[in-house]
Amino acid sequence: MDEKFVPWKKAQVHVLSHALHYGTGVFEGIRFYKTKKGSAIFRLQDHVHRLVESWKIFGEELALSEKQLCKAIIETVKVNKLKEGYIRPLIFLGYDRMGLDPTGLPVHVMIACFEFPAYLGEKAVRQGIHCNVSSFSRIHPNSMMTKAKCTGNYINSVLAKRESKDEGYDEAILLDHQGFVSECTGENLFLVRKGKLITPQSATVLEGITRESILEIVRKEKIPTLEETVTRDELYSAEEVFVCGTAAEITPVIEIDHRSIGSGKPGKVTMHLQKTFFEIVHGENSKYKHWLTLIK
Ligand SMILES: Cc1ncc(COP(=O)(O)O)c(C=O)c1O
Repeated sequence: MDEKFVPWKKAQVHVLSHALHYGTGVFEGIRFYKTKKGSAIFRLQDHVHRLVESWKIFGEELALSEKQLCKAIIETVKVNKLKEGYIRPLIFLGYDRMGLDPTGLPVHVMIACFEFPAYLGEKAVRQGIHCNVSSFSRIHPNSMMTKAKCTGNYINSVLAKRESKDEGYDEAILLDHQGFVSECTGENLFLVRKGKLITPQSATVLEGITRESILEIVRKEKIPTLEETVTRDELYSAEEVFVCGTAAEITPVIEIDHRSIGSGKPGKVTMHLQKTFFEIVHGENSKYKHWLTLIK
């Protein structure tokens, strides 16, 4: 916290912190995995770049460089002595006075690191999940910054997630303000339809690093892929659907709104990409070793 290592229980903030009241923070979710050469962080520089961009979109200056943040993240992984896990950096406005005006408020930076098994469950990764199309729309780019991982944005995700769980589903799919498929509460989405891999092209989609990794993998493998608008009925009639993100990795979707997707089992393309992804993050695919930062 603020450039010092702090024991877990002492990592505290003032109750009147601006971020706590108004959602004025930006964050990242990053994973590190075991490889034969030791632990490695997946796409560290890209995550740190998005973190700094998020803060810039939010309109604030940051005293730390991307290089300094990367170094701090590596050091935090080291002191926690974990082989595999999740890293949560957060930049947020602290307490000085009450009121909405953020001018001159103290900027805090914290990096936490902890064990984090499969976000939607081990079984979900192997067997797939059931989704609903949410009654909540994904945030609109005129009112919230959809390309920034701002903490305040996530009320939208939490509302959709709660509704989804309350109704007995595993995850929610949000449509954008025009009614096209956007993404999930913390994951991007892909489908296979008429033999083509498709991911929604909507102004509201977060530019997920897992999504971009998948797009790069399929480009290299020459798998026909499109970024285009997707409708709800195209999801229902897809051969395969999967969600992807740092937390959820690549998780098949086998049912949406009580309609089986394809055969009702994880599809071939999904499982091939999942296997490739896990090989890459565990350092078993030399073509993508530039995506890994080894912890020495
Ligand atoms: C709303 C949202 N969409 C998509 C993603 C997936 O992004 P990434 O692959 O960079 O983790 C995340 C997670 O960061 C997210 O919060």
